[in-house]
Amino acid sequence: MTNKAVIGLQWGDEGKGKIVDYLSEKFDLVTRYQGGNNAGHTVIVEDTTYKLNLIPSGVIRGKVCFLGQGIVLDPEHFLNEYKKICEKIIDPKIFLSSNIPLILNYHKQLDGINESILSGENKIGTTAKGIGPAYQDKVGRKSIKLYDLNNHSLLKEKLLTIKKFYDPILSTFNKKIINIEENLQLLNNFYNEIKKLIVDNNLIKKNFHNKKILFEGAQGALLDLDHGSYPFVTSSNTISSNILIGSGLQVNYETIGIFKAYATRVGNGPFPSELFDDTGDYIADKGVEFGTVTKRKRRCGWLDLVSLKYSCEINGVKELCITKVDVLNDLDKIKICKSYQGKYHHEINFNDSFYLDNCKLDSSDFDSFPGWGEIEGIKKYDSFPENLKNYISYIEEYLNIPISIVSLGPERNQTILR
Ligand code: GDP
Ligand code: IMO
Ligand code: MG
Repeated sequence: MTNKAVIGLQWGDEGKGKIVDYLSEKFDLVTRYQGGNNAGHTVIVEDTTYKLNLIPSGVIRGKVCFLGQGIVLDPEHFLNEYKKICEKIIDPKIFLSSNIPLILNYHKQLDGINESILSGENKIGTTAKGIGPAYQDKVGRKSIKLYDLNNHSLLKEKLLTIKKFYDPILSTFNKKIINIEENLQLLNNFYNEIKKLIVDNNLIKKNFHNKKILFEGAQGALLDLDHGSYPFVTSSNTISSNILIGSGLQVNYETIGIFKAYATRVGNGPFPSELFDDTGDYIADKGVEFGTVTKRKRRCGWLDLVSLKYSCEINGVKELCITKVDVLNDLDKIKICKSYQGKYHHEINFNDSFYLDNCKLDSSDFDSFPGWGEIEGIKKYDSFPENLKNYISYIEEYLNIPISIVSLGPERNQTILR
């Protein structure tokens, strides 16, 4: 068996956490390679609900978890999450690459400033976790990285430079300027608590050479910084080709693309198949479509195969997982978007104004399917109602990729392998 990557194909919240937990049984190492605590992954195993932001879902099965240098890490948030997971899992095996850049308080303030100067529909609707500004600092060569934390004088020097750069902006917007001593203390306390988790990439490479690695994506392909609907994207590359850079591991892997039976999006940006009627509200309620991180109601719409096919291509997807088919159970009519004003994915530029501003769909852009009724308790694919099988076959034929996992509910055991 090869290494595998679980990648969200929509705008996030496809159920990556649940599927990573499910698949991780057969892997030795589970690795995050991008994003930060903007991610929220909910996993339910029997009576316990785990809400994870930074720690890979493989931790629940006691797998070794590695956070690669492509992520951005908020020390206070990580420490809380780590302490909470230690209450549920005995001696979790979590390692942090020493190259990870940190998110500090000024990044969160700058995230707020960035949003405040944008008007109305131009606002991105970020998670306000400081993700964008932390990645800006990485590219701008100003990040404080985990390996800086054991060098007090270097750390202070870096913070002084950062202060010179950001204080004028922070004071212009009436925000608290950078307090060097406060930051040094926070980083010092943090370092003392987690230094045993910090490792050099080489150690992971050496110990997991020839072992099986599962990569856990965060966000979704349509939020990719370069390939998503810029500027309504996150600030990292979410697609699979970032895996080797973000993890620092030079290995081969195959990608399993994961998507919901419908679509959701949090924050602003184009969503051609969005529903503004009672059906949209019904899906949001039944699917409990409220963000784990920001508690915002997620926008809901029909499954969009145009963007899904694009996502499959840019991720080199070899197999698919569909989640939340149970949410659509009781609907009489279920729609799938197959084109945008008659255009298919190879005719669309997902960055241009046709997609960003003008993509209004009409009835000829959708195909309709009858509902499939109750599916609770079904344990194998052969027992699925014919209408559900037809829905799944239509998607497979359109994408020309097999669906190998079907998720029928939030719990680990509500998962059907074909
Ligand atoms: P992630 O960010 O991709 O890991 O997804 P989230 O955890 O943010 O959102 C997915 C939500 O749907 C979580 O609350 C899961 O517990 C839940 N979920 C996952 N798979 C299914 C499913 O097949 N059916 C239902 N009803 N809920 C699911
Ligand atoms: P998971 O891993 C859904 C969205 C935000 C916003 C945009 C930019 O749980 O699927 P950011 O704070 O990253 O600068 O916000 O990206 N976003 C997500 N939406 N699921 C996520 O993660 C997301 N992470 C970021 O809502 O539109
Ligand atoms: Mg999520």
